[in-house]
Amino acid sequence: MTIKHLLTPLQLGALSLPNRLVMAPLTRQRSLPGNVPGELNASYYAQRANAGLIISEASQVCPEGQGYAWSPGIHSDAQVAGWQQVTQAVHQAGGRIFLQLWHVGRISHPLLQPHGADPVAPSAIQAKAECYVVEADGSHHKAATAMPRALELNELPDVVAAYAHGSANAIKAGFDGVEVHAANGYLLDQFLCSDSNQRSDTYGGSAENRARMVLQVVDATVATVGDSRKVGIRISPMGTFGDVNDANPLETFSYLVAQLNSRNLAYLHVNRPDWLGGTFEGFDELLRALRDIYTGTLIIAGGQTAESGEQAISEGLADLVAYGRPYIANPDLLARFQAGAELNPLDGNTLYGGGAEGYTDYPSMG
Ligand code: PHB
Repeated sequence: MTIKHLLTPLQLGALSLPNRLVMAPLTRQRSLPGNVPGELNASYYAQRANAGLIISEASQVCPEGQGYAWSPGIHSDAQVAGWQQVTQAVHQAGGRIFLQLWHVGRISHPLLQPHGADPVAPSAIQAKAECYVVEADGSHHKAATAMPRALELNELPDVVAAYAHGSANAIKAGFDGVEVHAANGYLLDQFLCSDSNQRSDTYGGSAENRARMVLQVVDATVATVGDSRKVGIRISPMGTFGDVNDANPLETFSYLVAQLNSRNLAYLHVNRPDWLGGTFEGFDELLRALRDIYTGTLIIAGGQTAESGEQAISEGLADLVAYGRPYIANPDLLARFQAGAELNPLDGNTLYGGGAEGYTDYPSMG
């Protein structure tokens, strides 16, 4: 097929995007010691600078926010210096890049936490999910997530402050903006979803209460960055990844999205619940409802193809289309879409951890 809508430029705040392709945030677990990005990561992102916008892999805003070995952070000076290599390489290659701000909440384990502490969450409810740990002897493996400790009410401002600190660091590191990760069963999604949030204070119960933490993080991030058009947010309504479940996603996410309107953000990024397969009845109607509520720029992600992306934009369902797995395997995804060329297959064995193999060695065309 020939693509047209995906090639239409779009203005995102002060950023001029030359096309509608977004490289989705993708955990690859390839940071250096100290969870510091390096040259290899810079090459990987620069290879993909053809995207209208790159969103970095999720990056923990504080040590407690980590749930996977070798995921990068954005809390230390060394991490800022490491990310500077990445943003410089992407900008030199003509691209634009946001950093994704991450706190995993209960999707973690004492082996990943400072002083071997228990991970924190809205409520002390264990997820049936996996994280990825490194043992004291250096061996590493997947592990069941641990029973978390419920955050005290007086600890929540520190968590919000960690996101603000991460966003300040991201701007220092040269990112064009930041994305608040409120999706996929991590901390902010744990607050949003009724099953994982059993709090009896003003952060639990009603949709308004469960959305409070997310909105406070968004507001603190905007205040720190100093420009709401440099802040986006990612959500995953109806998603079950990370063992979350919300009793009424239409109510919860309609409320949240309506509240986001007045924030005048760079974008709202919606990850489909079926990104790893499965059937989620009613999602398309829910997405349509959220599209109707949201007055700003919308990114859709999860299992997208050139065809589905063209269709989503032409129907007005989305303004930008994020590609994850296709961008892992095809650094020149834009050119391949333009040429109607075959895509490289994805190597499922090199997604997480390791080095250049399955990371910077996927071939471009010609
Ligand atoms: C993962 O590491 O599997 C992962 C990380 C962040 C996400 C989703 C999945 O948002």
